[in-house]
Amino acid sequence: MAGDPLLRAMYPEEDLGPAEERMRLFLMQYWGGPRTYGERRGHPRLRMRHAPFHVDLAAHDAWLRHMRAAVEESHLPPHLERQLWDYLSSSAAAMINAR
Ligand code: HEM
Repeated sequence: MAGDPLLRAMYPEEDLGPAEERMRLFLMQYWGGPRTYGERRGHPRLRMRHAPFHVDLAAHDAWLRHMRAAVEESHLPPHLERQLWDYLSSSAAAMINAR
């Protein structure tokens, strides 16, 4: 994300560390881990939280491309990789809010 001009411009903070941490905590919670995300941020309401950002098809494609690279780097067993990828790709489609 950091090296992608289209996406980088969407992230309001200078330091991407906190955004990365929110994503990490969200995914940990979503997959049944500690509820730290909810304690810090409340209900995820992801569609609502993305509403201030222009998530069009180009942003969706770029975001998923980087996620694909991250998923591949993690070398999960194939059945887990498929589950994670299905989740990321269907939720990314649901996040599109602009043309
Ligand atoms: C479709 C393309 C997407 C784009 C372009 C995008 C972009 C963004 C941006 C610009 C932010 C604000 C950065 C920040 O946290 O300060 C954000 C926040 C976040 N995004 Fe996305 N996002 C996308 C899809 C997704 C998907 C599919 C998920 C979950 C599966 C997700 C999870 C999150 C989370 C957890 C936050 C932090 C929410 C909070 O607590 O404030 N995003 N995203």
